[in-house]
Amino acid sequence: MATNPCQFIITLLLMICFSAPFMAIVNCSDSDSDSSPSTGVGVNWGTMTSHQLPAEQVVEMMRENGFKKVKLFEAEKRIMEALIGSEIEVMVAIPNFMLLDMSQDPSYADYWVDSNITTYAYPGGVDIKYVAVGNEPFLKAYNATYLQITLPALKNVQNALNRAGLGSQIKATVPLNADIYESPESNPVPSAGDFRSEIKDATIEIIQFLYSNDAPFTVNIYPFLSLYGNEYFPMDFAFFDGSNKPVKDKNYLYTNVFDANYDTLVASLTKAGYPEMKIVVGEIGWPTDGDINANVKNAKRFNQGVIKHVLSSKGTPVRKGPLEIYLFSLLDENKKSIAPGSFETHWGIFEYDGKPKYELDLSGSKRNKGLSPVVGVRYMSRRWCVLNPRVKQLDGLAKEIDYACSLSDCTSLGYGSSCNRLSLSGNASYAFNMYYQLQDQNDWDCEFSGLAMVTGEDPSVGECRFPVMIAYGTSVVVHRKVLKVLLGVVEGCIVFLLLVS
Ligand SMILES: *[C@@H]1O[C@H](CO)[C@@H](O)[C@H](O)[C@H]1NC(C)=O
Ligand SMILES: *[C@@H]1O[C@H](CO)[C@@H](O)[C@H](O)[C@H]1NC(C)=O
Ligand SMILES: *[C@@H]1O[C@H](CO)[C@@H](O)[C@H](O)[C@H]1NC(C)=O
Ligand SMILES: *[C@@H]1O[C@H](CO)[C@@H](O)[C@H](O)[C@H]1NC(C)=O
Repeated sequence: MATNPCQFIITLLLMICFSAPFMAIVNCSDSDSDSSPSTGVGVNWGTMTSHQLPAEQVVEMMRENGFKKVKLFEAEKRIMEALIGSEIEVMVAIPNFMLLDMSQDPSYADYWVDSNITTYAYPGGVDIKYVAVGNEPFLKAYNATYLQITLPALKNVQNALNRAGLGSQIKATVPLNADIYESPESNPVPSAGDFRSEIKDATIEIIQFLYSNDAPFTVNIYPFLSLYGNEYFPMDFAFFDGSNKPVKDKNYLYTNVFDANYDTLVASLTKAGYPEMKIVVGEIGWPTDGDINANVKNAKRFNQGVIKHVLSSKGTPVRKGPLEIYLFSLLDENKKSIAPGSFETHWGIFEYDGKPKYELDLSGSKRNKGLSPVVGVRYMSRRWCVLNPRVKQLDGLAKEIDYACSLSDCTSLGYGSSCNRLSLSGNASYAFNMYYQLQDQNDWDCEFSGLAMVTGEDPSVGECRFPVMIAYGTSVVVHRKVLKVLLGVVEGCIVFLLLVS
């Protein structure tokens, strides 16, 4: 038979798949063949960053690495669109600033559900499982601003989902911070736990509604913060590989603070009359910089410990069975408020540019292949802004450093952080460069009253990295959907060839 168009197409595709340079961008091996458990580990994807990675490529990276679930803090169009057809299960949030409107106006809830949920929740669209109503609305720092409006907002959102015909598949929930419950100082064991008295009634009303609707209770648990807030906290109790001083609570022995915290919640729920209430851990993680205990070694130890715990399906001493968790977080976010601490911009398992910071085995397969980065990331030029070594008159340097840091992220300079051992001129260069990169490397952003200059030489020293910012715009990466279409063509061709031969 003479060459027909189908043979040509197949040959072409085979050539593409097997040509080495392309393999780096289009990985022709099938990542779906990974037989990780369907429960799987979720991850939070926050977007408080000055420069966003292309959403399509981030979704591709999550799939490649085997993340089965993602939690979003807002329904961003570019992200929801990128998740279409990805088969990643989604929890999407309504930010706190919308809670007042949501609580007062059912039609606003309808409008939000129509434009942000119904649009995407079709078969083959986005696999939305939960809507998070607010984010830690009962946090002490909010001074009870959301205490009375969270439940009405929750009701309106769930009712809107019901009216849209989605209520049985998509549940509204409220991610709450773990300090809404506690054990008394006089008896600090999980079984003595209860909800804090100031928020107890409001919390129990929420639980009643969630329970009647078969929705889970969502809580954020941070062993890192237990350690951060208390210098006497036993270090090994924050992790999952045993403890010298386990906590004994009747017949139960606690070797890590996560289990103790989780069971304190179970005790609180039990006292409220809901011992069977389903629990989702909305956020859990460990930062890598900005504090003496925030580093790659601890973050890997903690996150790998959590993942192992989840995959073991053992549960906690009181609540046996699988845990549902979302790691915090996917990527570093350089625009997060550092009011709670300098570590806030360093929670990512991946750097700002989508490179993994450490290895993490998400499936328990122990193949130890490491995490795959976001591919096809484009960077600005390899240029840095540093203190000009020829300038001798350094008056006003402190003021310039403060200015640069106030508009960028200098958290790596602090005590116990990756760049803490720089000299004063190193500090200045670091600050100038962070500002310069965030401002997109304009020449006029490397002035600082004549103290600064641009260099092509990477000033990074040891583990103190001077980053080059990512550039906007997408690169040429053949997308999964395009690949699917091409494979469809190949299949069609094979069938055609079989028929004509
Ligand atoms: C393609 O993916 C497989 C498994 O996911 C990995 O082992 C391999 O190294 C990847 N190849 C390239 C060129 O990235
Ligand atoms: C969510 O709804 C708002 C209001 O209609 C809209 O601006 C936004 O683009 C929507 N988000 C998505 C993901 O479609
Ligand atoms: C909460 O109250 C404190 C003290 O009254 C105040 O400093 C802070 O700004 C308030 N925060 C909010 C979010 O209203
Ligand atoms: C560099 O900056 C950090 C953070 O502001 C500070 O702790 C450190 O002392 C500074 N180093 C020098 C040599 O001034």
